[in-house]
Amino acid sequence: MGLSSNRSCAAWILAALLIAAVMVTGCSKGGDTGGSSASAPAGGSSASAPAAGSGSAAPAGGLATVSAYDAGPSLVKKGEALFQSKGCSACHGFGRRISCPDLNGVTMRRTAAWMEHQILHPDVMTKQDPIAHQLFAQYSLQMPNQGLTADEAHAVIEFLKSKNHEAAAAK
Ligand code: HEC
Repeated sequence: MGLSSNRSCAAWILAALLIAAVMVTGCSKGGDTGGSSASAPAGGSSASAPAAGSGSAAPAGGLATVSAYDAGPSLVKKGEALFQSKGCSACHGFGRRISCPDLNGVTMRRTAAWMEHQILHPDVMTKQDPIAHQLFAQYSLQMPNQGLTADEAHAVIEFLKSKNHEAAAAK
């Protein structure tokens, strides 16, 4: 028993050494390609392309701020503008009820898919979806189709999410 635990212990040390070796070579590779200032943190440069597969764990704060998978901030702005220009704000408020559901916290009670359907086909939703039907009964008003494209609906949903996050953070 003592022998076998010694062996597994040795195996662990070997594994650890191997990992360390890989990390060291990985780092020195990065330093070589980095040119003159090898020890400078990678996050500072404002290179245009997001550094997608730049390899080993980036230092905290060195994360890329632009990602093809998350256009969050720009979508939020676009969605906010659409919320005004497409007339949503005439009926919906945040933290107050005008004539229609208060959209404060809506992204916590509905999925993005549900909201997308509600924005793109509100007339179909009140007829076919039990939640929308219930809201219709409660407010005695049919939300009109505001003619958004799917992309525009996504932007508006990002805006709704950001509003809800703001409200939650302020608590
Ligand atoms: C004429 C007023 C009116 C306008 C304009 C309007 N809505 Fe609505 N909205 C409603 C009503 C009323 C409901 C409840 C469902 C129903 O009765 O059709 C609703 C429901 C919703 C819901 C679900 C709320 C919940 O609590 O689940 C979302 C999300 C929503 N609307 C987003 C939007 C967005 C985004 C726009 C702009 C593109 C918009 N609405 C424009 C009246 C409106």
